[in-house]
Amino acid sequence: MAEDKKTLVAPSLLASDFCDLKQELKKLAQADMLHLDIMDNHFVPNLTFGFPVIQAIRDNTKLPLDAHLMVERPEDYVQKLAEIGVEYISFHLEATVHSHRLLNQIKSLGIKAGVAINPGTAVSLLQPLLAEVDFVLLMSVNPGFGGQSFLPLVYDKLAYLAPYKKKHQFQIQVDGGVSDKNAKDLVQAGVDILVAGSFVFRGDYSEKIGLLK
Ligand code: DX5
Ligand code: ZN
Repeated sequence: MAEDKKTLVAPSLLASDFCDLKQELKKLAQADMLHLDIMDNHFVPNLTFGFPVIQAIRDNTKLPLDAHLMVERPEDYVQKLAEIGVEYISFHLEATVHSHRLLNQIKSLGIKAGVAINPGTAVSLLQPLLAEVDFVLLMSVNPGFGGQSFLPLVYDKLAYLAPYKKKHQFQIQVDGGVSDKNAKDLVQAGVDILVAGSFVFRGDYSEKIGLLK
């Protein structure tokens, strides 16, 4: 019998209607968690939303919130996100020289801690951190925008990373260009959490989340 491993789906609110977030949240009841793309226009060439908007989202959903920090100085965001009450925080390995310290800072606040890497970053750089991480976020597009094409180079990274899951007990997230076309292959390659923006928000959200699962 196949292993009964539950794949989690995390819709990315970057693709939602920002003028109607309350209704959008209601339509996402089938999601396992909500992915929040926090961009500062420095680490990536785009600017999204900050603490007041994240607080408003927190006040309107009980789903776990997954903050993906695409920012310089991610250290400066963690305390405030803890006060708002997010359940997951990932930061980019490329954005800090103190990744080990920051992982432990996040975990000490009772939040699941993840490290994200860009498509051009070698996955082996994560090796010293695998004993510390709750999850790894592999970008399958260059961060900054939704709706980009999926980069298959992520499969080689999954092949490297997945065998370490047994020893170190972490989850793998893939983010960017995820759809019903690649979800099955990604899960077979070891992905636990599928982040999807444009795929979920075009059409019936519940149906799209169901297709990913
Ligand atoms: C890109 C973001 C992604 C993005 C995914 O910088 O990190 O979370 O919203 O969007 P799609 O699924 O449309 O590629
Ligand atoms: Zn993201």
